[in-house]
Parts: sequence; structure tokens; C-alpha cells
Amino acid sequence: MTAVCFSDLGNTVVCVESNPEKLALVASGEVPFYEEGLKEKLGRYLDKERLSFTASISEMVQHSEIIFLAVGTPSLPDGSVDLSAIYQSVDDIISCLVETQERKIIVTKSTVPVGTNRAIHKKFKEAGLSPIVSVVSNPEFLREGSAVYDFFHPDRIVVGVDNGDEETMAQMGRLYDPLYRLKMPIVKTSWETAELSKYASNAFLATKISFINEIAILCEKTGADVTEVAKLMGMDGRIGAYFLHAGPGYGGACFPKDTVGLIDIAKHVGYDLQVVKAVQKVNEGQVSRIVEHLKSFFEGGLRGKKIGVLGLAFKPNTDDIRESKSISLVEKLLTLGASVVAYDPEAMVLAQQELSEVTYVEDAYQVATDVDMLILATEWNVFRELDLERLKSLMKQPYFVDLRNVYSPEVLQKNGFKGYVLGRELTL
Ligand code: UDX
Repeated sequence: MTAVCFSDLGNTVVCVESNPEKLALVASGEVPFYEEGLKEKLGRYLDKERLSFTASISEMVQHSEIIFLAVGTPSLPDGSVDLSAIYQSVDDIISCLVETQERKIIVTKSTVPVGTNRAIHKKFKEAGLSPIVSVVSNPEFLREGSAVYDFFHPDRIVVGVDNGDEETMAQMGRLYDPLYRLKMPIVKTSWETAELSKYASNAFLATKISFINEIAILCEKTGADVTEVAKLMGMDGRIGAYFLHAGPGYGGACFPKDTVGLIDIAKHVGYDLQVVKAVQKVNEGQVSRIVEHLKSFFEGGLRGKKIGVLGLAFKPNTDDIRESKSISLVEKLLTLGASVVAYDPEAMVLAQQELSEVTYVEDAYQVATDVDMLILATEWNVFRELDLERLKSLMKQPYFVDLRNVYSPEVLQKNGFKGYVLGRELTL
């Protein structure tokens, strides 16, 4: 994303990839994951030789004034963040610069714990390179599925620099100038504030989701409607309408990892981060709670039942199934002895690698054929205008479960369905 979008802004970009298969793929104009609009841009700039890919760090270092670190920072089993790819990249860059002694700006795009940019700076200092190397923390806030749009329309561009490093700040300002001209605010701050702002933002959004998911439980128990409660809450400008959609819990590559990461950051400074821990606990319990309820629909539970699942990606418009709640739901259904048939517009290739016991089909109607229950788990647009009458006629039993509030209980009932709409109607 970073490489392609900066070339779109008019820069010449050289991108290093260490995995030979991925390198061959991107160098031939293919994107190794699904992200709307990215492949077109990649093709456009590869053609014009504005964007090139290489396996050689020294080639990239030689050709670049500004170097972005955009490597993975996954969670380790103990909850801490694995920074080995960051430090390996830094060591590789140091080896190149020790020879050339050229001025460079090193920008950390990857999400890294507080203190990492200072530690990176220390590494360059120890190598005698601090007079020519400036370190910048520039976290990204892109959402999968709308990452290209988000790159060009950021709410803010956070630039964390060493105290008083005006020259680097000016260079970063020039890099982002095309977006600044479009009135996107560039905020200068310290390394630590920039680093923490990323974790705090993601943890806060996760908090909104777990909060509304708990309110959804109360709605189910009291007869209130979570979609209306969320709408009314969102009308208060202090609360905001976004990230108040109740569902099976947050998934993906960021929220689960960054909430765990923030708890770990707090632990390292001797603080027990209670709110975020509760957020995580609510999120972890959500799928089990849903499955418990679904079990109650059938005498003898879900054993031997055939269940259809619509959507496997952790959210629409991506093929990403990392930490997908839909995948955990399918795993639980299989463990309980149900058989599962599923469809997702983009995520089936990856899902097949993870869940070989599932039968994969080509559309929602094939999913519905002969099932005891149909679950809408990921709210792809293609599932928003289903022919409910046709669906029902194909099903063995008319149980429809909507975990994303796409259909109202009234519409489902009118079409003769039984089942469950999360946060609205416990039993249709
Ligand atoms: C998130 C942040 O939004 C982005 O700023 C950051 O850079 C990376 O992490 P992303 O993981 O792509 O982006 O997805 P997002 O749209 O935030 O959704 C995350 C999860 O929360 C999904 O599983 C989604 O289904 C769930 N979600 C989101 C809800 O359950 N309810 C909501 O109201 C919003």
C-alpha cells in the first residue's frame, strides 16, 4: 500500500521484498491479497517505471532518501510484540550506510510499541550514523478494504520526530504535501506520542465495538433494538456514530493484535490496563455466546445439523481471514458435530487452507440448499439484497441467523423464517 500510494503521489519508489514468491508476484503486477483499487494502481506505476521491486536492500538504500519500514510486527504467544523483522531491517540498512555514509530518513510505518523508534535511533547512534540518519514514527491508520481511499483521505498524518528535528519534519511535510494541500492535517509530535496514538486509536475503536456488543446483549434481554440504540447514541456528537455496529466481535490483523499489544505495553511500565482487558474479554466470549444460543434451537443441539455460513472474511471487501469471527464460528460449529457449507466472495481460497472440512460453494443460494440453518456472518453487499423467498424454499429448516443486522426481524418473520437477529430478536 505504502509503496504504490507514494508512487501515485509522484515519487519514485523502490520496494524490497524478502519472500521470493511474493517478490515475483508483485513485480509482475499482481497483488498477493485482495484490496480494492490497489492492483490497478500497481499496474499503472510499474508500467511507468516509477515503482520497482527488488530483493536487494542495498539497491533500495542506494536509491532512496526516505526509507519506510513496513514489515510485520505480529504478537508473540506471551502477548508481546515481535520486533525481529524491524530490527533485522534496521541492521541491514546500517550495514549499507556504514559504507556509503549518505543521509537518510528512516520512517517506521509498522505498528510498534512505545519506545521502539527511540531504540531504532539508538541502533543508528551506536553505529556512528546518528549525524546522517533521522528516525520518524509515522503510524498508518488504513482500513483493509478501503485502504487506497484512506491513504488519500486520512483524518490525520502523524509524524513523530526527535525533539527539534525541524529539517526532517520539513522533508516529511514535503513528502505528504499533496495530501496537505487537500487539507489533510499533518501533526508533528514526539516518537512516543506517535507510537501510542496508534495503539490508543485502535484500542478505543475496539472498545466501542465491545461496548455495543454488550449493549446488544441487554437489548436481547429487554426487548430493545441495538441498531436503534446505536443510532440514537451516535446522534450525540461526543459519542459519534462510527464503530457502533454490533456483531460477532472484532477480528482482523489489527484490533486483536493491538489490544493485546497495548496491554503488554502497559504491563512493561507496571500498569494493569483494565478497560482494554475487559474489551478483549467481551470480544473473546462473543462467538461462544452466539453458538450457545444457536444450540438451543434444536433438540439435541447442533450435532448432525447442516449449517450454511455467508461470509468468511473478518469484514467485507477483503480476502483476509486473520482472526475472523466467522472462521471461529465455523470451527465451533464443526466441533459441535455440525456440517458446514459456506460462501465468501473473496476469502474462500484462504479459508480452504484453514478449514478443509467445510464445503465451499459459489453463491448464497447454493449455501442455503438443504441446510437446517443459514448464518449471515460477514456483511458483504452481495448478501444485502437476497431473494428471501427463494432462500427459504431451498432450506431444509427455515432458521435464519443474522449476526450483522442486515435484515430486520420483521422482514425475516414476514418471509416465514425462524431464527435470531443479533441485538434485536433472540428468537424469531
Ligand atoms: C482497523 C482500523 O480501523 C484502522 O484504522 C487500522 O489502521 C487497522 O485496524 P481494519 O482491521 O481494516 O482496520 O478493519 P475495521 O473496519 O476497523 O474493522 C475491524 C473489525 O471490527 C472487523 O472485524 C469488523 O467487522 C469489526 N467491526 C467494526 C464491528 O464489529 N463493528 C463496527 O462498528 C466496526
